[in-house]
Amino acid sequence: MRSAIAIAHPNIALSKYWGKRAGVGNVPAVPSLSVTLAGLSTRTEVTFDDEISADALTLNGHAASATVTARASELLDRVRAAAGLSTRARVVSTNDFPTASGLASSASGFAALALAAVRAAGLDWDAPRVAALARQSSASAARSLFGGFVELDGEIARPVAGPDRIDLRVLVCVTTEGEKSISSRDGMSETARKSPYYAAWLEAAPRIHFALKEALLASDLARACELAEESALAMHASAFAANVIYVSGATLAALATVRSLRASGVGAWATMDAGPHLKCLVAAADVDRVKPALEKTEGVLRIIEARPGEGARVLGQGAEA
Ligand code: PMV
Repeated sequence: MRSAIAIAHPNIALSKYWGKRAGVGNVPAVPSLSVTLAGLSTRTEVTFDDEISADALTLNGHAASATVTARASELLDRVRAAAGLSTRARVVSTNDFPTASGLASSASGFAALALAAVRAAGLDWDAPRVAALARQSSASAARSLFGGFVELDGEIARPVAGPDRIDLRVLVCVTTEGEKSISSRDGMSETARKSPYYAAWLEAAPRIHFALKEALLASDLARACELAEESALAMHASAFAANVIYVSGATLAALATVRSLRASGVGAWATMDAGPHLKCLVAAADVDRVKPALEKTEGVLRIIEARPGEGARVLGQGAEA
């Protein structure tokens, strides 16, 4: 029996990816840049066990559905092929943040699974190679292998700045306890197929991305966050036109709060992903001015405050980790 335990954190894209390149490998159509969040973690243990005949996955204390287990098995199959193993695995994974919190648990989930599986199989892969494995399951997961600010450009994920480059805080405004209605996978393929604005998104996204990267490297928090809001609005506009709508009334109310704070001179910006939760981007020094206004916004149930953090890492490995 060989096992390893890995921990990974969710990430939020500042410049978004939305849409895939044609062909295999789950490669995003546009570059993206994210921030890996400290404090929120997925912990995953993978044990290759000769005694079992099928992969078994436990998520937050419950046996995972056949669909979810099959997605984990796809990743494990790639690891087995690379390591020359045929042994099935037991996978036990827990999130210390709510699964429906609007934080992409698939990003931290597949990052932790990829790292634990690779180490349990005895493969001595570096982080970029583990990231490429994670990307094939969930493209945003590639970014969670690294800490701080991370770029995913085509097949390559790489860190571009450490967690302290800008003093950013992310206020996740949770607007529903339910799961999202359209998966990101389906939402982006619908957008590519039906949106009259998908071509415009493909043209705009790299321009926004590279400007944002430049602002970040210049430690210009306000400019980077302004571009992050521009990226989110462009992404959602392209999706809207394909009848793919993730925002709710509460999301728009929180967006109005952010924009009115900004109109009154407070630095606050918004981003949204494939769900109704709004993430407010703010300098650490402004949290106390921004958080109460968001807490008072109708439809905002609670706020999770997060800061830039570290990448995925191995907690233990061995014959019986
Ligand atoms: O990693 P996926 O395939 O679940 O897609 C993530 C899509 C967004 O979160 C909306 C954008 C991004 O770059 O993370």
